[in-house]
Amino acid sequence: MKINLANIKKAQKLLNKNECVAIPTETVYGLAGNAYSDIACKKIFKLKKRPKNNPLIVHYYNYRKLQTDCNFSNNFFKLYKKFCPGPLTFILNLKQKSKISKIATNSRNTLAVRFPEHRVTRKLLKGLKYPLAAPSANISSRVSAVSSSDVREDFGKKIKFVLEGGTSSVGLESTIIDLRKKPKILRLGGLDISIIQKTLKEKIKVNNNPSKISAPGQSKIHYSPGIPIRLNVNKVKKEEAFILLRKKKNSKQNYFFLSKNGSLKEAAKNLYSTLRRIRKSNYKSIGVCKIPNIGLGKTINDRLKRASKF
Ligand code: TXA
Ligand code: MG
Repeated sequence: MKINLANIKKAQKLLNKNECVAIPTETVYGLAGNAYSDIACKKIFKLKKRPKNNPLIVHYYNYRKLQTDCNFSNNFFKLYKKFCPGPLTFILNLKQKSKISKIATNSRNTLAVRFPEHRVTRKLLKGLKYPLAAPSANISSRVSAVSSSDVREDFGKKIKFVLEGGTSSVGLESTIIDLRKKPKILRLGGLDISIIQKTLKEKIKVNNNPSKISAPGQSKIHYSPGIPIRLNVNKVKKEEAFILLRKKKNSKQNYFFLSKNGSLKEAAKNLYSTLRRIRKSNYKSIGVCKIPNIGLGKTINDRLKRASKF
């Protein structure tokens, strides 16, 4: 995709005026605003209908720009070197002198930080004097947006500008790791946790217990396509959409394939757009085949499980 500099300039201008702009990232689109501005952060919460106690994730161009706001550890640098920019979010301690808006953090002393890889958004971040608070660009509890048209579907004219960046290449939100003490995964995501473990040379706990919500977005009901989902099915009911991992020869009209040949990476990329497509086709419910619980399959299963708690 060719980078459109005029669009990036337009986004910068709006952001400088404390407006919200949707931005492309390799995971999902984000609803962005100046993370140092209370006004901009308030607008994000309002647009997204997000509960005030659910803090915003903040996007930086590189760690140098993060130095004013957060403290780092050795583990941070190990992971940063290997995976950033990319689909990994760090929970770090905020510095006392940090300029991050208290609205964004809901007055916590921690910050969720990410360095997105998407070329358009990197170019945008490089030219700004502040980092961007940007939760996923969808209405709270609904499926995330992986294209500019998904964003428009959710927000219509309420959003001033959507910066075009094509379809998100990963298609699932970032993996969140808490690095304040012993590393802990707070959200499965677009980066396979087994390679994080290899890099840190230790087994990392995954905190998927919804009764102890440390990342509020990890609430049980999330990523909902708005209709019931049944998991691990071999056969679907009449008038039910059927999501399959790999393409089948004798396909039927209600069959939706996540990949050509069973690739979990391709399936991850197609998951949210498939859920949106099915919703628009007026099916009453969805049946999903068994997805192998390895690598990105773990994240896909996590999202489907939450989406099924409709
Ligand atoms: O891939 C992504 O992470 C995308 C793109 C746009 O970067 N963003 C995204 O944002 O998924 P959001 O807001 O939908 O999910 C961020 C999660 C939320 O569950 C939020 O509760 C959690 O991060 N979070 C934010 N600040 C936190 C903090 N200080 N401690 C723990 N969790 C935090
Ligand atoms: Mg979200």
